[in-house]
Amino acid sequence: MSNAFINTIKPRRSQYALGKELPLAQQEVTALIQEAIKLSPSSFNSQSSRAVILFGAESDKFWNIVKDALRKIVPADAFETTSKKLDSFAAGAGTVLFYEDQDVVKGLQEQFPLYAENFPVWSEQASGMAQFSVWTALANADIGASLQHYNPLPDAAAAAEWNLPASWKLRAQMPFGANKAGFGEKTFIDDEQRFRVFAG
Ligand SMILES: Cc1cc2nc3c(=O)[nH]c(=O)nc-3n(C[C@H](O)[C@H](O)[C@H](O)COP(=O)(O)O)c2cc1C
Repeated sequence: MSNAFINTIKPRRSQYALGKELPLAQQEVTALIQEAIKLSPSSFNSQSSRAVILFGAESDKFWNIVKDALRKIVPADAFETTSKKLDSFAAGAGTVLFYEDQDVVKGLQEQFPLYAENFPVWSEQASGMAQFSVWTALANADIGASLQHYNPLPDAAAAAEWNLPASWKLRAQMPFGANKAGFGEKTFIDDEQRFRVFAG
């Protein structure tokens, strides 16, 4: 079976060996990320996802914020490993910070009390869809990326650094850059474990 969408999502993998050179100009990468997020669905078309796109020294700043926060809580003898890992993210060309605007979530809860419990969950799901769209769009532009979750450690310092609204909640970080290594083979569990099909 050949399907255009399946062929589009196949190149998306976790890339940890990142380099600085990008195959596109920064404006083009920005447009790609913005378009991928805008075309991602959200509950009631609430468009709760927000993103901060950091290039070069601005991206380095973010990983230094994470490093400073981790230095305070990681045992000294384990910190070198932690530090190297963070440096590998900073070795890329940039980082996308994915946020969800909690004011949008609260507004929906007030407007539609019947679904109040669902809106925070749907906001998380919308964020995941936006993350997948961006990751896949970058992969199709031959830009490697991975998905990281250092929130909430860097949240306050990042909000102060880039003057972000208090209602923006950091959900994920996506360092991206040149693919400096290939990808290992991906393994899959048995389809029988995952899928039940009932053909009528
Ligand atoms: C919801 C979610 C959370 C993840 N969190 C992390 C993470 O914190 N750090 C990380 O390195 N990878 C993270 N990943 C990446 C997965 O480990 C990775 O996608 C998976 O092992 C499959 O590999 P692939 O991305 O190469 O297809 C996350 C993926 C998802 C979908």
